[in-house]
Amino acid sequence: MTVGFIGLGVMGQPMALNLARAGTQLIVWNRTPDRAEPLRAAGATVATDVEEVFRGADTVVVMLANDRVVDAVLRRGTGDFARMVRGRTLVHMGTTAPDYSAGLAADVARAGGTYREAPVSGSRGPAETGDLVVMIAGDAVDPGVERMLRPMCREIVRCGPVPGALLMKLAVNTFLIGTVTALCEAFHFAGEHGLDPGTLSAVLDAGPMASTVSRAKGGKLRERDFSVQASIRDVLYNNQLIVDAAHAGGVAAPLSEVCRELYAEALRDGHGTADMAAVVRALETRTSRSTR
Ligand SMILES: NC(=O)c1ccc[n+]([C@@H]2O[C@H](COP(=O)([O-])OP(=O)(O)OC[C@H]3O[C@@H](n4cnc5c(N)ncnc54)[C@H](OP(=O)(O)O)[C@@H]3O)[C@@H](O)[C@H]2O)c1
Repeated sequence: MTVGFIGLGVMGQPMALNLARAGTQLIVWNRTPDRAEPLRAAGATVATDVEEVFRGADTVVVMLANDRVVDAVLRRGTGDFARMVRGRTLVHMGTTAPDYSAGLAADVARAGGTYREAPVSGSRGPAETGDLVVMIAGDAVDPGVERMLRPMCREIVRCGPVPGALLMKLAVNTFLIGTVTALCEAFHFAGEHGLDPGTLSAVLDAGPMASTVSRAKGGKLRERDFSVQASIRDVLYNNQLIVDAAHAGGVAAPLSEVCRELYAEALRDGHGTADMAAVVRALETRTSRSTR
């Protein structure tokens, strides 16, 4: 099986490299060609356009920024789209709205292709080490696609039909965003009451809520290190997907709504490219306004 891989960004490049290193026959494409060079060095074929990827592969992974980009790259709504996906399996690994993915699945099926949704939990680090958690959805269990995905992940969790995997991804992100935002509020609360952030870290790290995430983000809050792991802009994008899906389903999501306001405020204040821990700045701004 030859696998196509489209989208070699922060996540896609290390994911594709893990496929190449595991011996997968790969043909790749990226809008910015330089980002494909490490793949060429690892033995992959670098295509000059998207059509060449579909011509050369049975299964094509797309790891692109958002729904608009996926539509543009796949030329959705044109005859090219149907020609490219006919007889192919398209594996959508980025994070988009569940409803969007369901529509894409229907278009792929109409064109005579097969569609799998496979969003991931984990960021650049786990993408590099092959430790992502993949959530997979489709109209059937697909052992071939799951075998193909193995070198990129620690775990593959089946989530039923589309858009079950993207809904699952949003549920996971609800927990992640809520947890990190609460941690920021805890550090803010402690700081405003004159408590030592190092002592707060020591208590949290020793207690039952300690996790990889709380240790990483707690360290950043303690050191006021807002260098980016997951940016405010990207978290707001994910938070908005949660709120939109909740509203569409008539589901109460008050915590996600408050978080969305805070990330939007942090973005407006110029912290869009900072790490999500910088949402503490939005809390600080609110406090300074209320005490003025
Ligand atoms: N970063 C994370 O921690 C993380 C974790 C889980 C899931 N995700 C999701 O995974 C997906 C990819 O994330 P990422 O962090 O890899 O994003 P990224 O670094 O911004 O990469 C986005 C990819 O989309 C391409 N792209 C953007 N606009 C395009 C356009 N107009 N035409 C063609 N290609 C275009 C980029 O190409 P260029 O290289 O040419 O810009 C790049 O290949 C997103 O849906 C994101 O939400 C991210």
